[in-house]
Amino acid sequence: MNPIQLFDPASSTYTYLLFDPVSREALIIDPVDEQVERDLRVLREYGLNLLWAVETHAHADHITSAGLLAEHAGARTAAPAACGILTAAVQLQHDATLGFGSQQIQALHTPGHTAGSMSYVWESEGRRHVFTGDTLLINSCGRTDFQSGSAEALYRSLTQVLFALPDDTLVWPAHDYQGRSHSTIGAEKATNARVAGKSLAEFMAIMDSLNLPKPKRIEEAVPANLQSGLRHDADGAALMAVRAAEGYAGNVTPQLAWSWVQAGEAVLVDVRSDAEREWVGFVPGGVGVAWKQWPGMIANPDFDAAVHAAVPAGKKAVMLCRSGVRSIAAARRATELGLEAYNILEGFEGDPDALAHRGRKGGWRYHGLPWRQG
Ligand SMILES: [Fe+2]
Repeated sequence: MNPIQLFDPASSTYTYLLFDPVSREALIIDPVDEQVERDLRVLREYGLNLLWAVETHAHADHITSAGLLAEHAGARTAAPAACGILTAAVQLQHDATLGFGSQQIQALHTPGHTAGSMSYVWESEGRRHVFTGDTLLINSCGRTDFQSGSAEALYRSLTQVLFALPDDTLVWPAHDYQGRSHSTIGAEKATNARVAGKSLAEFMAIMDSLNLPKPKRIEEAVPANLQSGLRHDADGAALMAVRAAEGYAGNVTPQLAWSWVQAGEAVLVDVRSDAEREWVGFVPGGVGVAWKQWPGMIANPDFDAAVHAAVPAGKKAVMLCRSGVRSIAAARRATELGLEAYNILEGFEGDPDALAHRGRKGGWRYHGLPWRQG
């Protein structure tokens, strides 16, 4: 079985969805923020349970949806350890494996495009596949002129790591700009214009003379990708909320949510973990129904029953979390359960500022609304 190959036309990025046909457990590689609705739909259509959202590196040309998939689909995030994506739940070292059902992928450290870049090998039904990120592209390779890139390291990764795989290994790159879907190690070894038959010196001269323009979105994408794509800037949060407002009743400010609660029109459902409510503080009169629980941030199996019990018929549900991400996922689930559910923008603590301090850029407490410490 081949992976499901998905394409983002704006960035020419390929996203790959791999699954085990028996358990229906799945893993996604390099998911794209703008395509999260499509990817959730594909998961539903195939009846898949997404266990992992995995990056090949910290991308400069698009923002990952890994953080969103963690909330909306319950995936765990994994990223190469040397990429500095510290929000990823699993920091992958060379040779590490990630399992889904009876399947697994194996990480190969293939630095060069970035110092942390990895490729992933998947063997399925006697066929070997490699997901090469921006390390090896069809008849090309990733650039090495920014983001800790190194042409020398890339040459080694291509010729000694990837080209050491059997010739019939299928190559699935992170991008193609000409509509090609995949290649093989044998074909790339024989004909890749950048590296086939080239010495290290020749390769370095080629890489040195590319003179590529800076990626359009690098300033925005790299910082976001270092946080699994959960953008903690006002624009990012607003964009995310607008896009995700499909699937639930809408987004409300903390002030509007509180006025509804006071008027008896709405129940405030606090979807943070019990530990956060206890330690950080809570809204008097709100009902705690955790979306995920500490430790491990595991999905709360009682969420559906508890949210039903918390919100009487005819009342709205206004969902509060830390900064307005989990509450979107929870509002959507509550909507599926038949409730009129809203997301409270900015959450309890708001987004972090430049020094990573929360509570200074909006949120329930910032707006002076009532709260108490446990
Ligand atoms: Fe890249």
